[in-house]
Amino acid sequence: MHIDPLEKKWMYVIGFMTAVMIGSMAYAAIMLNMHPPSNVETIDPKTLHLSGEFAEDNLGATTNPDGSVTVRMVAARYSFYPQMIEVPADTDVKFRITSPDVLHGVHVPFTNMSTMVVPGYVSEVNTRFSREGEAQFLCNEYCGLGHDYMWSKLKVVPKG
Ligand code: CUA
Repeated sequence: MHIDPLEKKWMYVIGFMTAVMIGSMAYAAIMLNMHPPSNVETIDPKTLHLSGEFAEDNLGATTNPDGSVTVRMVAARYSFYPQMIEVPADTDVKFRITSPDVLHGVHVPFTNMSTMVVPGYVSEVNTRFSREGEAQFLCNEYCGLGHDYMWSKLKVVPKG
């Protein structure tokens, strides 16, 4: 079979580009521990604030018997509730987040904490924060006129 030399050259270029893209995805997944959140759990967005784990009194960070931390948050137009979360550094943290209104996103810059928050579902992210100090949760899905102002604080404090 005859292949034109120019065509052959481009086949190598495309092969190289594909290898770089697959390689960078594998690197991010294996070395940087970045995975798409994969929790599928439904919740009624109309009643989540009335009782259960997303009632106002149950929001925030709780320490589990094994030392890990579970954080429950509600993302609603236009803030995250509660507006300040404090977690210890170098500790396993599980975020459970849901929305009573529209699609939101939660992102903490320079960490692997990032997920969509879809009304009707509970988003779950497992992570650890190694850098102490203050950071922000930012909404990264356009959710309305107040989207730009939708953020809250994350405080990473020394462990123990
Ligand atoms: Cu919430 Cu954008």
